[in-house]
Amino acid sequence: MSVHNPDIKRITTHVIQELKSKGEKISALTAYDYSLARLVDAAGVEIILVGDSASNVMAGHETTLPITLDQMIYHATSVVRAVKRALVVVDLPFGSYQGNSSEALRSAIRIMKESGAHSVKMEGGLEVRESIIRVLSAGVPVMGHLGLTPQSIYKFGTYAVRAKEETEAQKLLEDAKMLEDIGCFAVVLEKIPAALTKQVSESLTIPTIGIGAGPDADGQILVLHDLLGINKEFKPRFLRRYADLHGVITQAIGHYVDDVKDREFPSKEEAY
Ligand code: KIV
Repeated sequence: MSVHNPDIKRITTHVIQELKSKGEKISALTAYDYSLARLVDAAGVEIILVGDSASNVMAGHETTLPITLDQMIYHATSVVRAVKRALVVVDLPFGSYQGNSSEALRSAIRIMKESGAHSVKMEGGLEVRESIIRVLSAGVPVMGHLGLTPQSIYKFGTYAVRAKEETEAQKLLEDAKMLEDIGCFAVVLEKIPAALTKQVSESLTIPTIGIGAGPDADGQILVLHDLLGINKEFKPRFLRRYADLHGVITQAIGHYVDDVKDREFPSKEEAY
């Protein structure tokens, strides 16, 4: 059952900040298309991320690297059309902001102008500081993303838990503080030890949004298709499946195929 508060008309970055201040956990999910974004929004999720995980989930790529800015804008535009309440955050895709801060600004402005989204997300810490500052300077709210940053997967070499070692944990803490200081409104913490999440969340005033980061983040995010159980193969420890849509969908389609073959569908009542 959703705890959707009908008094909140539209979720803004200020509402997200207030939720942390009040100690209320923040719910976030991905969406990439109109139909599912409508359901996610109506169910009361506060943040809808048009994640570059669309590269894996929607296009079947192995990584998030191939998705383009145009493709992200297409997904974001469909989601924005559906959403009445949630804050819509859109990933700046790989290659659209790392080059220099002017490129980052151009990419963020395209997303905001062409999709009507409310904010962008950028992966990384000190390495992308100037780009984030430039985007923020144009009045575009930015969500940071630290820990396992999938756009750097070829640098990491694996999707294993990040920042288990003291030096990496220390850098993550410093990066998180830096993101807060320059004006990010929230930061995603992906696949890091729960104790580190607690430490970061307690030392920041902006909200942390965890995925595979334990219970102490200020909010949680999952990839919608994972939560719905559409993909049976992906089963990391952090994933809780709330439905078995793989079973429901394959059974429904199998039933349809049988009915067509058996001349059971359409019936006389379903004909004109
Ligand atoms: O692209 C994505 O879906 C994400 C979330 C998993 C945080 O970045």
